[in-house]
Amino acid sequence: MRSGLACFLSLAGVALTNAAFGVEKRHGPAVLAVPMVRDTAPQLSRRSKGVDVSLKNEEVNYVSYVANVTFGTPPQNILAYFDTWGNGCWLYSVDNSDCDLYVDHASCGGYGAYNLTASTTAKRLDDEFAYDDSGAMTTGDFVTDVLKIGGVKVDTMKMGIITEPIITANTLSLGYGNASSISLTQALADAGTINSPAFSLWGQTALFGGINKARYYGPLYTFPIVKRSDLPKALRVNMDGISINKTSAASTTFPLDAVFDTAVSMSYVPKSVAQALNAQIGNTSVPDEHGQVNFSCSAMGENSTIEFKFGKLEFQFYLSQFVSQQSDIATNDGWYSDEETCYFTICENVHLQYEGSIVLGSNFMSTVYAVFDLENDEISLANLNWWEHNPDDIVEITSGKNGVPGAKSGASESKSGTSGAENGTPGATKASAGTHIEKGLGMMAVLVGAVVMLNL
Ligand SMILES: *[C@@H]1O[C@H](CO)[C@@H](O)[C@H](O)[C@H]1NC(C)=O
Ligand SMILES: *[C@@H]1O[C@H](CO)[C@@H](O)[C@H](O)[C@H]1NC(C)=O
Ligand SMILES: *[C@@H]1O[C@H](CO)[C@@H](O)[C@H](O)[C@H]1NC(C)=O
Ligand SMILES: *[C@@H]1O[C@H](CO)[C@@H](O)[C@H](O)[C@H]1NC(C)=O
Ligand SMILES: *[C@@H]1O[C@H](CO)[C@@H](O)[C@H](O)[C@H]1NC(C)=O
Ligand SMILES: *[C@@H]1O[C@H](CO)[C@@H](O)[C@H](O)[C@H]1NC(C)=O
Ligand SMILES: *[C@@H]1O[C@H](CO)[C@@H](O)[C@H](O)[C@H]1NC(C)=O
Repeated sequence: MRSGLACFLSLAGVALTNAAFGVEKRHGPAVLAVPMVRDTAPQLSRRSKGVDVSLKNEEVNYVSYVANVTFGTPPQNILAYFDTWGNGCWLYSVDNSDCDLYVDHASCGGYGAYNLTASTTAKRLDDEFAYDDSGAMTTGDFVTDVLKIGGVKVDTMKMGIITEPIITANTLSLGYGNASSISLTQALADAGTINSPAFSLWGQTALFGGINKARYYGPLYTFPIVKRSDLPKALRVNMDGISINKTSAASTTFPLDAVFDTAVSMSYVPKSVAQALNAQIGNTSVPDEHGQVNFSCSAMGENSTIEFKFGKLEFQFYLSQFVSQQSDIATNDGWYSDEETCYFTICENVHLQYEGSIVLGSNFMSTVYAVFDLENDEISLANLNWWEHNPDDIVEITSGKNGVPGAKSGASESKSGTSGAENGTPGATKASAGTHIEKGLGMMAVLVGAVVMLNL
């Protein structure tokens, strides 16, 4: 529990979760801010995907996208994962045999489970809920009931109620939905809470229907959603490269489709890219069955950086943000010492190829500012401003083309395929990203060092 990285993320979480939203100045913009709750109870570290769970000895303590909501009348408390990958919304039923394991069935291990008979507004629908997540079938009934989230109410939210025990968690998908399932984002748009099915995600906050200009710096670049004929439509863009210390890994394999998935904590890349990255770190082990490698922490090198390129936008982070440490031998000083084993949290994509070539999990997503615009099939990305606690500056996303305020096309000039004219908004800054990156990295070093004293 004491690796510098994990503590750093927890710190960021505290600050963001407690942030007040300065929306009142704007005469009630149609936005909904939902802070994630912190994973404190051991049960809450259960993920909705099997792959991450079984990692032994490993510190998997990244930002979790868990929201505190209620369903039913009177309101039943539920903790549910915000999932950017899937396309359904479902909750455990109290009658699920998994919940029988707990003395308090309705609490169902801390997450909460839904009791249909206890709700006066519940309506069981005729269609059956059947959700196939790459062969893992989850079944139950569809119901509609009152969903309350962050102070707003969706009167008839359609939700699958899982009666068959299966390893998954209460889930609210934020993406596209399909003919049988609606996503939370779409339901909020349909209910008129937000203007357009779009949301921003940064740190541990989801902001439906708006952007927060105070939480990113530099341009907000927009990229088209890319489709792969063999895969379901998802929140997916092209990535143009990954490098360590500015030396690119397997550059000829890019561009590659990259999908955003808050339900996994690590990120996954094709084998050729993983091998090239591992080679740059140096003496790494052979990948384990999850595609992950370990290495001696001293091999990482002080101040090593990792870069992710999307068109005109390049993110740069300390490599240590994508490395975790064996938890039981981690030292308390916030830095890695020589003899310890480190684990690279960018792994070969062994199990998640059905999601895409590259899967960007919460270790990546928690380090960037992202806007997902389902109406226009676009994703906007910017550098996350996590160190300045300046006042929130929340602006609505409007319906129609170019609804994301201040965003401009991030497509590289050299590529013609993904054109998308720049919408040349005056709001976009010309700030020197270089200066900010230096500042960002410098501050992070300070923060990681300061973890000792705060000792979370
Ligand atoms: C969720 O909200 C309920 C009701 O406000 C509260 O009692 C509970 O402590 C919250 N849970 C978490 C994990 O924040
Ligand atoms: C569900 O609610 C009903 C009605 O309030 C109650 O009788 C029943 O015990 C509850 N079931 C569980 C498993 O808690
Ligand atoms: C909706 O998506 C789920 C999960 O991918 C799938 O199991 C279900 O069959 C889909 N429903 C329809 C009507 O396409
Ligand atoms: C590489 O790592 C292995 C196992 O971690 C170790 O036995 C070996 O000595 C290392 N080689 C070098 C050159 O550091
Ligand atoms: C490092 O990875 C290798 C190969 O997967 C594995 O055999 C070894 O146990 C790992 N070392 C640690 C300390 O986890
Ligand atoms: C990256 O560069 C830094 C110096 O800025 C160096 O200390 C580190 O070892 C390098 N890392 C790798 C993996 O090459
Ligand atoms: C790493 O960065 C710090 C702070 O900028 C600097 O003092 C140190 O010399 C750097 N180390 C290496 C190996 O470049």
